[in-house]
Amino acid sequence: MNNQLFFTTDDQTIKQRAFEAIEQEQESIGYYALPDQDTTPIKTYAKTIDASVDTIVVIGIGGSSLGAKAVYNFLKPVKKLSRKLYFCETTDPIEISDLLTNISIEKAHFLVISKSGTTVETFAIYKYIYSLRPDACAYTFITDPNSPLEQYAKEINASVLHLPHTVGGRFSVLSTVGLLPLALCGVDIDALLKGAKAIKAEFFAQGVCNDTLLNKALFYAKHHTQYHINCLFAYSETLKYFCEWYVQLWGESLGKRQRHSASHLGLTPIGLIGPKDQHSFLQLIMEGTRDKSVTFIKIEDFEDTLTIPDITLPHLESLDTLNNLPFSKLINMQCDSVMEALKTQGDIPIDCITIPRVDEEHIGTLLFYYELLTSLVGELIDVNTYDQPGVEAGKIILKKKLQRS
Ligand code: PA5
Repeated sequence: MNNQLFFTTDDQTIKQRAFEAIEQEQESIGYYALPDQDTTPIKTYAKTIDASVDTIVVIGIGGSSLGAKAVYNFLKPVKKLSRKLYFCETTDPIEISDLLTNISIEKAHFLVISKSGTTVETFAIYKYIYSLRPDACAYTFITDPNSPLEQYAKEINASVLHLPHTVGGRFSVLSTVGLLPLALCGVDIDALLKGAKAIKAEFFAQGVCNDTLLNKALFYAKHHTQYHINCLFAYSETLKYFCEWYVQLWGESLGKRQRHSASHLGLTPIGLIGPKDQHSFLQLIMEGTRDKSVTFIKIEDFEDTLTIPDITLPHLESLDTLNNLPFSKLINMQCDSVMEALKTQGDIPIDCITIPRVDEEHIGTLLFYYELLTSLVGELIDVNTYDQPGVEAGKIILKKKLQRS
């Protein structure tokens, strides 16, 4: 029997069992506790970084960078942040050189983040930057307790902070991994956690979002062979890196061999940004193979009054309908129109998440919503949501190749 899940009981029982499994999982999986943590140690440490530092650079990859990147880029356009935050997460030499020409290395503080403490990309970049700035005070290391990176940091007398051993890389955005870089830039990390805490409380108290999340998870699990491509269509450029974070979370957590069978299965994440992807990928969703579900994300109040001027263009008078229209209204009308068009197809599953505003609290809620949803789907499709043997396999081969070269 291949790649097929059979649900032999009724939906209510399946959802109840999945909920109970998640409740129990809280004992061993660390991310569930993160919204309730005391942020004082992180904020206190952030204050020790010299006021002359104007730039923070995260050196890390995957789960060690994508979460903070998603939150920072969500807030950056609307919030006056105290420092710039850059992410050095590639071995592409052009990108590394380009990033370094944009910053003053003497005024930067570098956060070297690696859970395992041995990731090749991270240390290739760190070695290069350290050769330019060999000063231990310019670096903070974030890693698992007792990792080789912690031992190294102690050797050079640099500061080390930990993420809990039970928090996986792609679930670490609300740990020191995400919170320290954000706090150093003036992001209100308590508000971020407040948003996560609210949805966590509602979910475990079996409030409204509990049913929504369980129904969604059950849908993805039941229909994973037909609707195995799950698009996130966000109508705001501020969510571009949230989509990247989602792609990692969903793909790396849900593409696996099943725990109790030899079958490989998985759900494929796609991140899209409206309206521009309306003019490209949308055609494939609308008329292509019926293998995609779509979740739209809208921002209810952009808190922005930018408006299309009352100008008539000769020969283009039909576009006067745009006159005096706020852009915020236009973009949401575009989203509504695409949803309506997809609905008329009748066989494309869609849903919509509305974020009230662009702020810390609401991105915190959205992050935790997706973490919970991922855990529920993983439970229902019978995979280990928290490991990543496929990613590890590539890392091992690269290390062997490097030994031989
Ligand atoms: O989610 C994961 O576990 C991975 O994407 C890791 O975050 C990524 O491979 C980086 O690993 P590390 O933090 O150990 O350097």
